[in-house]
Amino acid sequence: GDYSLEQFSDALRRGVRADGRQLYPAMPYTAYAKMTDEDIEALYAYFMHGIEPANDAPPETELPFPFNLRFSMKAWNLLFLDSDPFEPDPERSEQWNRGAYLVQGATHCGTCHTPRNALMAEKSSQALAGGSLGTWYAPDITDDPETGIGGWSRRELVDYLRTGHAGNGATAAGPMLEAIDLSFSRMPEEDVEAIAVYLLPEVESAAPAQPAPVERDAQTNIGQLIDDDTPAALGDITPGERVYRDQCAACHAPGGQGLNGLPALAGHPVLDKPNADNVAMAILVGVWPEHRQGMLGFADELGDQQIADVTNHLMSEFGHSDVRIDTARVAELRAGDPHA
Ligand code: HEC
Ligand code: HEC
Repeated sequence: GDYSLEQFSDALRRGVRADGRQLYPAMPYTAYAKMTDEDIEALYAYFMHGIEPANDAPPETELPFPFNLRFSMKAWNLLFLDSDPFEPDPERSEQWNRGAYLVQGATHCGTCHTPRNALMAEKSSQALAGGSLGTWYAPDITDDPETGIGGWSRRELVDYLRTGHAGNGATAAGPMLEAIDLSFSRMPEEDVEAIAVYLLPEVESAAPAQPAPVERDAQTNIGQLIDDDTPAALGDITPGERVYRDQCAACHAPGGQGLNGLPALAGHPVLDKPNADNVAMAILVGVWPEHRQGMLGFADELGDQQIADVTNHLMSEFGHSDVRIDTARVAELRAGDPHA
């Protein structure tokens, strides 16, 4: 409440608090460093006049050596803080530059989506190529068609960032859903479109893509599932399929094609990632969208083995992926170990 504009700007763009101490880069000042003076002034005006004061002392930060020494952040900043303001690229359109400014600055996509080195600095050579947040995995969002989102249309990306759902079957969970519900869904549509132009420069802004074709078997319904539940049929099923039938099929349908507006899992983009962490995390903690039906987590219902089994069932049957998770990893995710 008593910060001057200059102190506020130093905290946001240089990582220095009003008392001169260093902030840790968990506060994304390395991204905010790209923001213009005008935007910082606008934020300052909003914080000073638009937000009710609250007397709330956050808990002491506990970090391992050497990060517990705040002055070590000065050396870190010398190495890793690029405090040059954003430079528009004159070869590119105004819309592309607006998207670049937003992605690199205020929306700080790289804070989560760029892998970090041993000193927790973003690897600039691998910008947006995917990184683990400890439990959740923020996937590759470069325009690489294989590992990234090069196969998405701009419309799909805009819909995903505004609602957490896209026509290709993607649904957002975890920290991404939080970023969408609390932030990206509230941005003006032009800004989200500019982000899509910047991230997908080569992709045509073609007509809205149709939802990914999902094999629909008109015969498959809950009735059929029960018919199949004869001892003979049960003898063949894997433990993962067993859990799926018992716990998941009522909402996601026996064949994974979704039911009554609840999402399909067959062909879901979360299943084509280099690890299965997000699938297991969604099962453990659930999915909590602000304006739609969500999914309760199964941490209390299912053990590590069952979660690994059902995750691997989804990966192989609905994702046609070779990626698997083991129970040790599920146990780490359950414990929420930030260094896992
Ligand atoms: C707080 C961390 C965080 C931030 C900030 C963040 N993301 Fe994400 N993002 C994630 C996580 C975690 C996932 C995986 C979510 C899931 O499995 O449902 C994800 C998923 C995505 C996906 C889906 C990719 C796929 O292949 O399924 C897209 C696209 C995406 N993010 C774009 C962005 C963009 C663009 C920004 C900046 C405007 C951004 N994200 C900022 C954490 C973040
Ligand atoms: C009560 C209905 C319900 C049940 C039961 C249910 N789900 Fe879900 N699930 C949902 C809904 C709703 C969403 C997505 C919400 C949204 O974004 O619209 C979802 C999303 C998901 C996602 C996507 C997560 C991501 O990262 O984007 C996965 C994977 C998933 N469910 C797997 C499962 C598995 C496995 C089970 C059984 C162990 C299960 N679900 C049981 C309703 C359910």
